[in-house]
Amino acid sequence: MYVCLCKGVTDKQISKAVESGACTMRDLRQEFGVGSQCGKCTCHARDVLHDSLHAR
Ligand code: FES
Repeated sequence: MYVCLCKGVTDKQISKAVESGACTMRDLRQEFGVGSQCGKCTCHARDVLHDSLHAR
């Protein structure tokens, strides 16, 4: 499922990134540009990030 439409980033990509060490929104923004355009995905991306961190 897409989390960030502007950058075409999916929840799977985010959990993969977390597996390889990403742990903050800044990491996701640097890696994929999540939230760097319209910003609408920020809340959802944060939820996905936190879920992935807890599942780690
Ligand atoms: Fe992520 Fe627009 S949907 S920046």
